[in-house]
Amino acid sequence: MGVGIIGLGKYVPAKKVTNVELEKFVDTDDEWIRTRTGIEARHFAADDEDTSDLAIHAAKEALQQAALSAEQIDMVIVATVTPDQAFPSVANIVQDAIGAKNAASMDMSAACTGFMYGLVTAQQFVQTGAYNNVLVIGVEKLSKVLDFENRNTAVLFGDGASAAIVSNVAEGRGFLAFDLGSDGSGGKHLFLNDQRHIEMNGREVFKFAVRTMGESALRVIEKAGLQKEDVDYLIPHQANIRIMDAARTRLGLPEEKMSKTIHLYGNTSAASIGLSLYDDVASGKIKDGDKLVLVGFGGGLTWGAILLIWGK
Ligand code: COA
Repeated sequence: MGVGIIGLGKYVPAKKVTNVELEKFVDTDDEWIRTRTGIEARHFAADDEDTSDLAIHAAKEALQQAALSAEQIDMVIVATVTPDQAFPSVANIVQDAIGAKNAASMDMSAACTGFMYGLVTAQQFVQTGAYNNVLVIGVEKLSKVLDFENRNTAVLFGDGASAAIVSNVAEGRGFLAFDLGSDGSGGKHLFLNDQRHIEMNGREVFKFAVRTMGESALRVIEKAGLQKEDVDYLIPHQANIRIMDAARTRLGLPEEKMSKTIHLYGNTSAASIGLSLYDDVASGKIKDGDKLVLVGFGGGLTWGAILLIWGK
């Protein structure tokens, strides 16, 4: 048996803010944002909608897709850097709200790489036989940590949630390899400041991202005993189209073999890879048996890649 994903869920808040609308309250312009980042719009949660609310929507859909009841979930892992509060964790709130009364629950903080760390952690529990079903959620309400006076960061991020249920799948499907890493010495390039706003050295993060996404993706392919020609589809963290294209080029993949949802949602940090996976499975771009490379990077600094054969 393999270990893979048996159900996905997604939620983006109703309020969509285009670049042109952002121009009204940030000193920026649509042309700059589109050409430098690929972002055209993002969604912002309502004032009375917190991170856990987004997570709960995505979790419920993943349960439905997996045809599982909440009682069958053994663990809830929530990857986020924008929890409702330090504790109880978002995972504790989700566990209660969905009625996962048999589940352990915890949050995980690895910034935009959070979903990768969450999936790999879930995989270990299922592979050892300790647990049957682990619900992994990547969720952010980044709008609450954006400084709209700071155009370097205010234009980049959005809110959203994605969820995946990790369980046993058929032989020949599921996780083949992973690569996780971190370099705390780069923490100073991307962090939450004393005012609880995101601060970023864009150029340093850009250089780090281009290097690490490509290297981590190549490492995971090698660990899986495959060649880059074997990869059917790339799902990179959706932070900047230029960074994503650099990773795609390292793998020698054409444009249509890379997931692109950044124009719709902006950078949703821990939610981004799951949102992309969800949309591309729903639209039929990802098919049963496809060899996927999921790869992300983020604050920490952190990075991670997974080689996954899609299907259950
Ligand atoms: N709107 C309009 N102009 C802007 C702007 C905005 N939102 N943000 C910056 N500018 C201006 C700058 O002030 C600068 O003007 P100047 O030359 O007169 O000083 C100019 O645009 C160029 O800025 P620069 O920082 O060199 O742009 P860039 O090409 O490096 O792109 C980023 C900036 C942020 C898009 C890019 O560095 C990036 O994507 N970095 C990685 C960020 C990332 O992925 N973060 C998430 C990690 S999970």
